Amino acid sequence: MQGAINVNDIRKLARRRLPRAVFDALEGGAGDEVSLRRNRAAFDRIEFRPRPLADVAKRDLSTTVFGEQLSMPILLAPTGAGRLARSSAEIAVARAAARADVVYMQSTVGAFTLEEIAACSTGKLWYQLYLPPDRQEVKNLVSRIAAAGYRAIAVTIDTPVLGNRERDARNRLLARPPHPKVLLQGASRPVWATDFVRGRVEARRPGRPGRPVQQSLDQTRTSIKTSSDCVTWEDIELVRSLWDGPLLVKGLMRGDECDRLVELGVDGVVVSNHGGRQLDGVPATIDVLPEIVDAAARRLAVLLDGGVRRGTDVAKALALGATAVLVGRPYLYGLAAGGEDGVLRVIEVLREELDRTMALLGAATVADLDRSLVSGARVPGAPSPSER
Ligand SMILES: Cc1cc2nc3c(=O)[nH]c(=O)nc-3n(C[C@H](O)[C@H](O)[C@H](O)COP(=O)(O)O)c2cc1C
Repeated sequence: MQGAINVNDIRKLARRRLPRAVFDALEGGAGDEVSLRRNRAAFDRIEFRPRPLADVAKRDLSTTVFGEQLSMPILLAPTGAGRLARSSAEIAVARAAARADVVYMQSTVGAFTLEEIAACSTGKLWYQLYLPPDRQEVKNLVSRIAAAGYRAIAVTIDTPVLGNRERDARNRLLARPPHPKVLLQGASRPVWATDFVRGRVEARRPGRPGRPVQQSLDQTRTSIKTSSDCVTWEDIELVRSLWDGPLLVKGLMRGDECDRLVELGVDGVVVSNHGGRQLDGVPATIDVLPEIVDAAARRLAVLLDGGVRRGTDVAKALALGATAVLVGRPYLYGLAAGGEDGVLRVIEVLREELDRTMALLGAATVADLDRSLVSGARVPGAPSPSER
């Protein structure tokens, strides 16, 4: 971990530690992975137009979201497969987030219950909600989220069925009993395999609190068959009626739904294509961000995820109007490579890069990041690059 100076270096360490099928499960996207690649390519297309004469001797990365001060505008996205990277999974991530004072949005399909994670973390936790198939259970789940001290709920809306993850199909990752190919790959990574098996044994230990909602990969398989994760406008209304805290929807990819979300009392959105893991062919998130920011017209907090790998990416998203960004795979690489310390390292790398980028851009505060600092983005009403 010492020699790793950026997210890509940490990704390489993760790749070395994990069996191929597991790395692919974290890394891969849906279908031809067009949207997965677009998320990255679109960030690279956007250019900076710095204002170098600004006074940036002192910089402040902090920001306020839903009235709460965050040390920086980077959150950890919900990922339901942390257990594949390391058995400490969400517990390690939540502890690293607390040490770094960043928000961790916990997934419904983690390896640990929401209470277990809350008990292990002194940090700021938000909850990502996949609705239980039986809507009668929503009330109970929302009460548990509130009782455990989670501060916001994000309902994920882009997963009525699982995306077409061809890497997983080819690797036979979900076969039960496990496919010999997967077992062989596991055996070739003994450190990972020992930890994985220990985690499975621990999970079955009698006396561990029950997990009424989540079962990671098992639940994923159910959802393919039953479409039970389909979320409708009525469901958003239902959650709104049960939850007093900040409510977000995660997975918005168009601006024309903002008015209705505001009418329903939603407080924020996460512009997200699930890291290219759901509908292949959708645009890069950074390309639809300006449209959604304009449509939200300050009535909604607009967060973004998908392809953020550098502090420069964070600055681009904020300049285009994002309130904050989330990262998914980067901290999973950290988790795989170094557990809790690995996650912390990823967060600190991104913090350092954002700080440096802001200085070089002439932005002393997050509020100083505005559209004049970038060009080449898809801003509604602006001439396209070919027309300029
Ligand atoms: C392995 C993996 C598991 C994920 N699980 C969830 C999940 O349980 N719920 C959810 O809303 N999003 C999930 N996501 C999507 C992330 O929250 C986030 O939208 C995405 O990872 C952002 O893109 P990035 O990985 O390029 O940063 C998952 C992503 C990955 C890579």
